[in-house]
Amino acid sequence: MAASLATTARAAESAPQGTTNTSESSLDFNPHRYTRQDFVLKGLAVDVRAYEGLPTVRRALEPSYQTLNLYIPDAYFKGGTVGRYNAQTAPIFLPNQVGGYMPAKPGTLAVRVEGPPGGMGMEMGGGGGGPQGPGRGGMGGGGGGGRMGPPGGGMGGEPGTRPGGGGARGAGGPGAGPNAGPSAGPSAIMQALARGFIVAAPGARGRTLRAEDGSWTGKAPAAIVDLKAAVRWLRHNALANGGRLPGNTERIVSNGTSAGGALSALLGASGNHADFERELQALGAADARDDIYAVSAYCPITNLDHADGAYEWQFHGLTEYRNVAVSMLDFRVERTETVARLDAEQQRLSTELRAEFIAYVNGLKLRGAQGQPLSLQADGTGTLRDEIQALLMASAQGALAAGVNVGQRDWVRVKDGQVSALDFAAHVRGMGRMKGLPAFDGLELETGENQLFGNAQTDKRHFTAFSARHSRSEAGAFVADPLTVRQMNAMHYATDSSARPAPHWRIRHGTMDSDTSFAVPTLLAAALRERQLQVDLALPWDRPHSGDYDLDELFTWIEQRV
Ligand code: DHB
Repeated sequence: MAASLATTARAAESAPQGTTNTSESSLDFNPHRYTRQDFVLKGLAVDVRAYEGLPTVRRALEPSYQTLNLYIPDAYFKGGTVGRYNAQTAPIFLPNQVGGYMPAKPGTLAVRVEGPPGGMGMEMGGGGGGPQGPGRGGMGGGGGGGRMGPPGGGMGGEPGTRPGGGGARGAGGPGAGPNAGPSAGPSAIMQALARGFIVAAPGARGRTLRAEDGSWTGKAPAAIVDLKAAVRWLRHNALANGGRLPGNTERIVSNGTSAGGALSALLGASGNHADFERELQALGAADARDDIYAVSAYCPITNLDHADGAYEWQFHGLTEYRNVAVSMLDFRVERTETVARLDAEQQRLSTELRAEFIAYVNGLKLRGAQGQPLSLQADGTGTLRDEIQALLMASAQGALAAGVNVGQRDWVRVKDGQVSALDFAAHVRGMGRMKGLPAFDGLELETGENQLFGNAQTDKRHFTAFSARHSRSEAGAFVADPLTVRQMNAMHYATDSSARPAPHWRIRHGTMDSDTSFAVPTLLAAALRERQLQVDLALPWDRPHSGDYDLDELFTWIEQRV
């Protein structure tokens, strides 16, 4: 049910917050410059002060993305409480809206209305972070044999503007699967506010942004730098640090889905790491810490430098792949399915990539949830696969207990009310392969990730030695430098003791999500556990590539920890 929202510009002033008469933006929070917005959620009236478009760095390259929308319950300015919190104790929910590594404007407190039948929910007034559908910029796009779209970000949508029609998604992407129909539930932002959280919704630059002089402004690591700048802005202005911003900046909880989930995880893994200092200084970010308290990451598309091998390990032997490009024309959803096959050469490369991944996993020497070493044999079987199989079985068991007839899948066996066996390979076959080969570092530089790893002068580059070696692109000589590749990888910082990681993690990746391998979230969880961090990883039953579908559980999880 859509919540109602009213906006009254009671204290709007003409100059946007942060503008000064010099060319640099001020980073100081002015509590008096806001609009009032109120909404009703489950019968509860919520009155908030909205501070929108706050610059998070002094010298932005892309001022409309390097900003923050801040929503604070009005009660916190009057000595009051909301839910369990007051102005000193309120946790800060930090949802990013990034999809497909595209540019993302900050989320807003938006009303969601029903989308067309079987289609997409639509948000009025911007992205609110509700159950994530194809409104976010996506990775699909249909071009190039089902791979992502043409250069310059032909993603079927203006970057960062998201009323309904945003980016087209690939198969299995939000909106394409069984559970991703119209999503008219209250947004994550509303639910957070109703529970008394302060919401700080950061924007982030993305891979298609370009300055007037033609240089690219949103290539890696721009998006993570922008999220870190937002965290630093919050600490710079915190009451506890002598500022005027209510809320507990030692309880910042990040949230994101897919590319946004990867960035959420990266933000949580890389707290205060020196790798990002140069970029943050150049932009004039606030001088403050950027570690956070908790991470929520839905289907994080992370570990990009090993994701190709992980994909081949999981899908090895499946030669057909299907990609459904979803686009929207005058509120009509169009789905175009591309079916393609890996040719003999690609099948040979699949074997090579799989072997690389097996060596990588065995080199990590991580352990599973029960403390057992995680490894893989040359044929792809092994304890890492068993670990994933156990997660799938737990998911099936949970669904069974909730009344789902999981036994109708011929790869799940139910005996005496318990899931007694599950065939991993049969599940993977049934789900099917979505991406071509390599799944992420395309040999023709055709993927969104290739465009992510461009630089100011170059739109697209390789980012793995494997694809650089096998490149079929004339620009194949261009390879991202190792620092940039590392700066985008949560897995890297999860094992780097000079970063301060978030102590609490909630990672979700649906059992029907084929955008990346199950091994990606599983290894990330294992690396975080190795650091003695608290990790809650689950593979929700039958979920395709999507996020924010279990907000009640998410916020309950958070409230148990803050
Ligand atoms: C997203 C999906 C992908 O398949 C991918 O490779 C990168 C990002 C996304 O939905 O954000």
